[in-house]
Amino acid sequence: MEKILIIGASGQIGSELTMALRKIHGNENVFATDLKQVSVEIIESGPFQILDVMDDKRLIHFVIRHKITQIYHLAAVLSGNAEKLPLQAWHINMQSLLNILDLAKEVDELKKVFWPSSIAVFGPTTPRIDTPQLTVMEPNTVYGISKLAGERWIEYYYQKYGVDARSIRYPGLISYKTEAGGGTTDYAVEIFYDAIRKGKYECFLSENTKLPMMFMDDAVQATIKLMESPVDRLSIHSAYNVGGISFDPKELNEEIVKRLPDFKISYKSDFRQPIADSWPTIIDDSLAQKDWGLETKFDISKLTDTMLDGIRKKFEK
Ligand code: NAD
Ligand code: SER
Repeated sequence: MEKILIIGASGQIGSELTMALRKIHGNENVFATDLKQVSVEIIESGPFQILDVMDDKRLIHFVIRHKITQIYHLAAVLSGNAEKLPLQAWHINMQSLLNILDLAKEVDELKKVFWPSSIAVFGPTTPRIDTPQLTVMEPNTVYGISKLAGERWIEYYYQKYGVDARSIRYPGLISYKTEAGGGTTDYAVEIFYDAIRKGKYECFLSENTKLPMMFMDDAVQATIKLMESPVDRLSIHSAYNVGGISFDPKELNEEIVKRLPDFKISYKSDFRQPIADSWPTIIDDSLAQKDWGLETKFDISKLTDTMLDGIRKKFEK
């Protein structure tokens, strides 16, 4: 029986991944932790505790006491916020990962780790269309540099110590249950909230800034598939490319206007524009499809319907 620790369970991904893993492994076997409170759904369905991933002593105590077999480490400072406090972001993103990898090296019962990477590992010298799994990687953001270094660390721990740590280069993730946490792709979440709340949105990226995106259900299913895959099927021990669907703010606006004809978008690029301009527009994820069966069910139209419905229902409660 698996005993799973989620670190960062209050966040955009953690809040949904925790519930999906509880359905599979049983509520009592999935321990949600974060620095801040989680949703009522998570608190009422299973164990939750405040835990700081930077506190390595409490972390090891927790893992041993609860006989943890898998960790999903989701705590990080995202791309936009990281540019505001570069050294602090570097410290949190790197030290937290090293705490987890060292734990996995030392504690025999802890068999598997999931740690997300990002499309931010790529930079302005990377081919932007059909970005291959193996390519030039010269990120120019603190977040991207920390994710690329993290990828190298997880492969190092696999090669040197046999630590089974797995990772996905997530594209921008879109969901309505929890609001997004300080990233460059957040416009594609905020736009739906503002469409319902205000009928208008000022976008911080230009209208033709195309980026790879994915609806949260697809990202959660991809994560679970990768983690359930037999290790001998995996040819990558750093992080897999996952592309999802690519669109720009103008295309997303057109989808929203089809459903809300009075919705108005305006554009005012900010410091996140050069970050977005340094990232790929379309990612080649054929290796993830081949190795562990990556599938995507949400296109831009289904995503738009689901976001608008979900946010409307959230506000009706
Ligand atoms: P988020 O900011 O919404 O959630 C992160 C959570 O970690 C927050 O709830 C925060 O309170 C918690 N946290 C921060 N510091 C902590 C600490 N010291 N100890 C314990 N918890 C702490 O982020 P997210 O969007 O859910 O992203 C999760 C992971 O996925 C991150 O590694 C991120 O880089 C990666 N990722 C996210 C996206 C995306 O579009 N959301 C895309 C690519 C990669
Ligand atoms: N969505 C994330 C961000 O913009 C990508 O990792 O930071």
